[in-house]
Amino acid sequence: AEELRGLLLSRIQDVPDYPKPGVMFKDITPLLADPAAFTALTDALATLAARHRADKVVGLEARGFILGAPAAVRAGIGFVPVRKAGKLPGATLGQAYDLEYGTAEIEIHADALAPGDRVLVIDDVLATGGTAEASLQLIRRAGAQVAGVAVLLELGFLQGRSRLLGSLDSAPLEALITI
Ligand code: PRP
Ligand code: MG
Repeated sequence: AEELRGLLLSRIQDVPDYPKPGVMFKDITPLLADPAAFTALTDALATLAARHRADKVVGLEARGFILGAPAAVRAGIGFVPVRKAGKLPGATLGQAYDLEYGTAEIEIHADALAPGDRVLVIDDVLATGGTAEASLQLIRRAGAQVAGVAVLLELGFLQGRSRLLGSLDSAPLEALITI
């Protein structure tokens, strides 16, 4: 576990002042470009899907797609995208959430999840928790159960975990790395 953490952390690049002054951006593109690291990450996420008995992975656009899709394939379960509003062609459920300035909206196909589905949400980073919280609301509104949330990197100082507590409803929040 500590070995995995070290490998993953070594492939995440800090980019100061991006996208704006004072923000330290966590760039996962070096990790994606390293097949050993990306495979280890995919295996770890697929193990979490199995451990929490998920039968669907929900990936959060955009970086949650990159991590979630191979994990779903590796776990042998389906992948469902949660997209930014306006991108899905079918009937959708939408959920607005707060950004630092203004609001955003994400959507899921209304028929993507069945009652009784157990869903693992996958994203790259948990920051304020706004994106993950909105996705959990969508999953519940779509009639499915939350098996858990799994992220590569939790930014502990932003308190996303406590924000998520209510919507997790005792489902686990798994972070492979917490800083
Ligand atoms: C980033 C990151 C998470 C989210 C975390 O996505 O990939 O999805 O922000 O922030 P939060 O916990 O404060 O909601 P972003 O919306 O920047 O876009 P991208 O994934 O499409 O690059
Ligand atoms: Mg994102």
